[in-house]
Amino acid sequence: MTDKIGIAILAAGKGSRLKIEMPKALCPMLGKTLLDYIVEESVNFSKLLGKKCDIGVVVGHLKEYVIDHLNSLKLSVDIDHAIQVDQKGTADALRAYFEKDAKRWEHELTLVLCADTPLITANELKKLFDKIENDPTLLAVAASFETSEPTGYGRILKKDKGFSIIEEKDATEEERKITEVNSGLYLIRTEHIKKTLFKIDNKNKSQEFYLTDLFKPEYNVESISFGSTQIFQGINTLKQLEEVTRIMQQSIIEKLMNKGVRFINSSNCMIDSEVEIEAGSVIYPGVVIEGKTCIGKNVTIESGVVIKETKVGDNTTILANSYLQNCEIHSHVSIGPMARIRPGTLIEKDCKVGNFVEIKKSHLKEGAKVSHLSYVGDAEIGKSVNIGCGFITCNYDGTHKHKTIIGDESFIGSDCQMIAPVSIGKKAYIASGSTINKNVPDEAFAIARQRQETKPGMAKRFLKIKE
Ligand code: UD1
Ligand code: CA
Repeated sequence: MTDKIGIAILAAGKGSRLKIEMPKALCPMLGKTLLDYIVEESVNFSKLLGKKCDIGVVVGHLKEYVIDHLNSLKLSVDIDHAIQVDQKGTADALRAYFEKDAKRWEHELTLVLCADTPLITANELKKLFDKIENDPTLLAVAASFETSEPTGYGRILKKDKGFSIIEEKDATEEERKITEVNSGLYLIRTEHIKKTLFKIDNKNKSQEFYLTDLFKPEYNVESISFGSTQIFQGINTLKQLEEVTRIMQQSIIEKLMNKGVRFINSSNCMIDSEVEIEAGSVIYPGVVIEGKTCIGKNVTIESGVVIKETKVGDNTTILANSYLQNCEIHSHVSIGPMARIRPGTLIEKDCKVGNFVEIKKSHLKEGAKVSHLSYVGDAEIGKSVNIGCGFITCNYDGTHKHKTIIGDESFIGSDCQMIAPVSIGKKAYIASGSTINKNVPDEAFAIARQRQETKPGMAKRFLKIKE
């Protein structure tokens, strides 16, 4: 016997009821996959117990994607996969877990988790552990809960002594009314699995090998009811996916609120699980923040803003309907409304990016301002540069992208175009309406537009003026 706990995560199912192309285990939810949540809680459980765990994920449907994903996870524990060739049921999946590595029979306890119940935390796992630790005669514990919508779950069928679990399809009308259901989470003495797992048959409506057959009145097994909680909500349908996402979202937002982040109306915000926001920040309704985004202190984010994989410094304001992706914004910056900041952009402190401005792969140094209706791509904009309205970097010649450089403290008049590659020196002044395609040295004035001609009295040739 080893002191390790074996953890089998069943993730081979197709998830056909979700009607998605990818394996259900990889279905995204608030910045992670469903599988990630259960893997992370398994790791937390191992930490909570101070015991080593041996995690094996059973994969099957589109297994290459799940295996690739598992390999990409950076975890503090070893994690392996087992392949279930045909999805013949949850008992067959557990067989695949043991067949992959015979050493798993030596773990005294085996914890079984499904990849489609992402709200479960290490606390529930610990409760099962405490139960079985305190009763050496107990062979297995199953977590159950009460629900007014038991459809789809296995029902807990209590007998004079013990219980069994009856699947929806095999249940009678009467049995379907039972509201205590199986969560799919079990902690089992490996001995019990060894004796019974290969005896399970598939004589049921689905012709599947049910893991729930490890629980029979003749075995000394128990169910622990967690009452009417949503924590075990499984995800079989898109409706359940939405419900679980909302519950998870609420808990993410509550954690942020406890840290001092104000949500004016959180009900229609979407904040991914790995987003960090510091105290004093205010999030308006309808804000979406995704990926590993970090928002500093006292940041205001107005309605309709979308931020992905971005760093935002303290005291910055992101005005309504702006879209920021893979960029870095420092402190005391104002962005938007309706600005688009594209990947590879760095905006230093005290900058201003105004309405209808798009910035791509550019560096705006301290105090630079691009206030209205401009496109800045592949550019380096110096300190305190002021760019007028309607400025365009012509950065693409149809084949290659070229750079525009503007030195510190230069002034660019409205409606200018910079045909890159081009470089403007420091403290230069470019007249409005100029199309610049030659470098301009420090402190120079450049004008590149046609001279105006004015013909007195000639307007009436073009205007229909009422006499
Ligand atoms: C299962 C339980 C049910 C319980 C419910 C809780 C059985 C027979 N039923 O039903 O009692 O109330 O979970 O959410 O166990 N899987 C495999 N290989 C397979 C089949 C499934 O790895 O051949 C995996 C799936 O990927 C999934 C998990 O096992 O992660 C559960 O399978 P699913 O088909 O969702 O079972 P339910 O019908 O929800
Ligand atoms: Ca399920």
